Amino acid sequence: MLALIALSMASGKSAGAAENQDFPVPVSVNALMVTMIDHSAHYIWDYAALEDRMLEEEWLAIEYYSIQLAAAGPLITLGGTGELDNTWPLSPQWLGYSMDMSNAAMKALNAARLQDKTLLENAGDELLDSCLGCHRAFKPETPTEGVIHDPFYDQLYHLFQREGEL
Ligand code: HEC
Repeated sequence: MLALIALSMASGKSAGAAENQDFPVPVSVNALMVTMIDHSAHYIWDYAALEDRMLEEEWLAIEYYSIQLAAAGPLITLGGTGELDNTWPLSPQWLGYSMDMSNAAMKALNAARLQDKTLLENAGDELLDSCLGCHRAFKPETPTEGVIHDPFYDQLYHLFQREGEL
């Protein structure tokens, strides 16, 4: 019991450190969007759009990327190294869209665990709404750091490895 109390006190302390920005996010929102958020979201959309039955390992991939995307929600509320990265999270709207994105990713995770394609499609639609909503409200015409996809990938890019299919 005592050990438990000590443990919770210790973790309370580290949460405080994060609030004080002692450990700032070392990369930019622009870079996270491209390398983590867009990347993991595409797994969800591309598999949701796949007409064939999904394989066991493909559901597992959805599971992994949904977890990344769910965690990316709170991550982008912590700021970053980009020019506007510490300004955006001050807006409650930013927080709302980040939460919507994270919640949609959790629905995709649930869909993966149940291997339910309809749930995956619904999660994908909700996810898209969160991206578009936030981009309409905040995203500059050209990315602040000029980071975009290179190469730009289209639908089913991630499915190239599916043997004998494409
Ligand atoms: C909470 C707000 C927010 C959410 C949610 C969000 N984005 Fe973004 N996104 C931005 C902002 C702001 C930028 C521009 C960053 C910059 O220019 O520094 C951006 C930039 C991007 C970029 C790179 C710039 C470009 O024009 O190509 C991509 C790709 C991207 N977002 C994809 C997504 C996807 C996919 C989702 C949903 C799964 C998503 N974003 C959700 C705010 C958001």
